[in-house]
Amino acid sequence: MQVKPQEIYLDCTLGSAGHALEIIKRGGLVYGLDIDPLALKRSKERILKAYPDAFFKAKLANFSELSAVAQELGLTAVAGILLDLGLSSEQLADPDRGFSFNLDAPLDMRASPDYQVTAADLINGLNKGELYELFTKLGEEQHSLSIADFIVRTRLIKPITTTKQLAEIIMKAVKFRGKTHPATKVFQALRIAVNDELNNLKTVLPQAVALLKPGGRLAIISFHSLEDRIVKLYFKNNAQLINLTKKPIMASDQEIKVNPRSKSAKLRVVEKI
Ligand SMILES: C[S@@+](CC[C@H](N)C(=O)[O-])C[C@H]1O[C@@H](n2cnc3c(N)ncnc32)[C@H](O)[C@@H]1O
Repeated sequence: MQVKPQEIYLDCTLGSAGHALEIIKRGGLVYGLDIDPLALKRSKERILKAYPDAFFKAKLANFSELSAVAQELGLTAVAGILLDLGLSSEQLADPDRGFSFNLDAPLDMRASPDYQVTAADLINGLNKGELYELFTKLGEEQHSLSIADFIVRTRLIKPITTTKQLAEIIMKAVKFRGKTHPATKVFQALRIAVNDELNNLKTVLPQAVALLKPGGRLAIISFHSLEDRIVKLYFKNNAQLINLTKKPIMASDQEIKVNPRSKSAKLRVVEKI
């Protein structure tokens, strides 16, 4: 981002303010968004505690509405925009939210209480073909047909309402045992669908570029190939942008040791002409 003192930066995915704090530390003025009220509260508390006098304004908003939100905040041209996609460690570890197959919880997976459809609604409401398509397209799951079949047969007996129930059904449907848990890709697919993650990303990209001032930078960290493909293509095909990362920046072995989730992170950065 090459943060410069007194310049304005927009963190569209505040999370727990890890990045926002780093920008503030370098003298940047930070506006932050998050769709999750709990994340917003956590960020505000952390920043207030670490830098009580810093310029920091936070808003509960979906980054897919970035232009309108920026207008409300009075922002016209900013020096940098950050998108650190997906979910925070706090959200993933929250036993009540149903993101993880390692914790038994209601099958919810909504990052925002404003979203209407839960993972349980999809699992119990989609037909077999739709489940197959969901797991294949958004999870790149090879065993989609067998998993969809097991789900449809199991829910005839009783609805599937918890993460544990779903993980057990997937374990039965997938005979192959590799290094990763067999439920990983289905859970990814459900999360992406429930939170409309790919559409939100496609929608924010032109809005973010429009909001950057010349020389401003847009940095995006993605965590799976579906997201990274969208970012890569958008950056490549935009004449207003200079691509600063021909190849994405990945975490070092040392960082992965301290923060295992960084293993799948890819950072791409562009500068507006
Ligand atoms: C990976 S975390 C960000 C972590 C943050 N960079 C930090 O350093 O703590 C992603 C955050 O983006 C939020 N988020 C996901 N989709 C969003 C959207 N469409 N609009 C706004 N925030 C979103 C999630 O609620 C989550 O808090």
